[in-house]
Amino acid sequence: MANVTVIGAQWGDEGKGKLVDWLSNRADVVVRFQGGHNAGHTLVVEGKTYKLSLLPSGVVQGKLSVIGNGVVVDPWHLLSEIEKIGGQGVAITPDLLVLADNACLILPLHRDLDQAREAAAANKIGTTGRGIGPAYEDKVGRRAIRVADLADRSALEAKIDRLLAHHTPLRRGLGLPDVDAGALLAELETLAPQILPFARPAWLLLDEIVKSGKRVLFEGAQGALLDVDHGTYPYVTSSNTVAGQAAAGSGIGPRGAGYVLGIVKAYTTRVGEGPFPTELFDAVGQRLGERGHEFGTVTGRARRCGWFDAALVRQSVALNGISGIALTKLDVLDGFETLKVCVGYKVGGETLSYFPAGLKAQASLEPVYEELDGWSETTAGARDTRDLPANAIKYVRRIEELIGAPVALLSTSPERDDTILMRDPFQD
Ligand code: IMP
Repeated sequence: MANVTVIGAQWGDEGKGKLVDWLSNRADVVVRFQGGHNAGHTLVVEGKTYKLSLLPSGVVQGKLSVIGNGVVVDPWHLLSEIEKIGGQGVAITPDLLVLADNACLILPLHRDLDQAREAAAANKIGTTGRGIGPAYEDKVGRRAIRVADLADRSALEAKIDRLLAHHTPLRRGLGLPDVDAGALLAELETLAPQILPFARPAWLLLDEIVKSGKRVLFEGAQGALLDVDHGTYPYVTSSNTVAGQAAAGSGIGPRGAGYVLGIVKAYTTRVGEGPFPTELFDAVGQRLGERGHEFGTVTGRARRCGWFDAALVRQSVALNGISGIALTKLDVLDGFETLKVCVGYKVGGETLSYFPAGLKAQASLEPVYEELDGWSETTAGARDTRDLPANAIKYVRRIEELIGAPVALLSTSPERDDTILMRDPFQD
């Protein structure tokens, strides 16, 4: 199988960046297909840490990297990330980075709206405040400015007018000052010459790449439980994060997604608001957070932590058509006497094997746990299954059974090489 799609199978922050970086060795192109700079991918390569939010993780390996049409792009942020990574020795040129000319832009007015709404809301979503939701709203509302518009002053002028006709009343309602159309036009015209050299019909490039038998690696952002349709709505992000979006968000066609690799953390975390059945508020949760360094890459917020939820990941396996998983951060569980795994939920005397869509049921459900023996040895840095304690292997095998998908890779530290390959996704 030629292509691989990597997605987060929980609420994001499963360690996708490291796995994409590791797999990009075997790929010819790396493609982002949804989300924006709300994502945070940390790569540790030979002791050097790279923090990416918008650039595909393949850039660090010097792989051709594509930001697809499904991504919402803050052009100012893109330029600053290019400069930051350039400062770390990775020169981002149009030979390395392609930006879909039909991707929609995030503007400062989107960020203003995101932040003002969050500040005013009684029920906060806990967004990253980067304008992601409002930018997707304008895309679906057919008034977004797209990358290609930067090359066309008259299109830009007309689109700014249309956009402001929508945003001005919203801003006034939230007590925000009006946006000056001329100033926005001037700002966009200033950055256009820096952005446009990267702009191309990405779908056409991908079509050529696929026809020439090259391998594409799709890099998801966030996680399936934050999907706008399938996640814990309304506490979700504003894009489809499931593997199916790799096709629509890049223009490659549904057969192109290939092997779907779900990235799964050996326990559960979530940032922002919303339901989290296995969340721990005690010393165990605190220990998971400390040992796992669970702080958001983008916002620095402490992540909420809890036991592994096999019912939710089983749901994610189905929603994404997951072929196999990469299990990350097993070492954070080292030293626990017993470990709990959620296998389903109790709702009003009934047992459910899946997470229900209704808010009332979500609020009242209780996790049903299975207990497993822990291990005292360390698994950190293991590079062979023979280096793992027997109980760690039992934990991994039980997870496979419960979620209905095999473990293809095990990641035992943030370092690229601390990875155990059990099945090669590019060969499977
Ligand atoms: P937004 O994507 O900024 O609109 O935020 C919506 C929800 O998605 C919030 O709960 C965020 O914390 C969450 N979120 C967005 N991006 C990420 C990510 O990369 N990892 C984890 N959570 C995220």
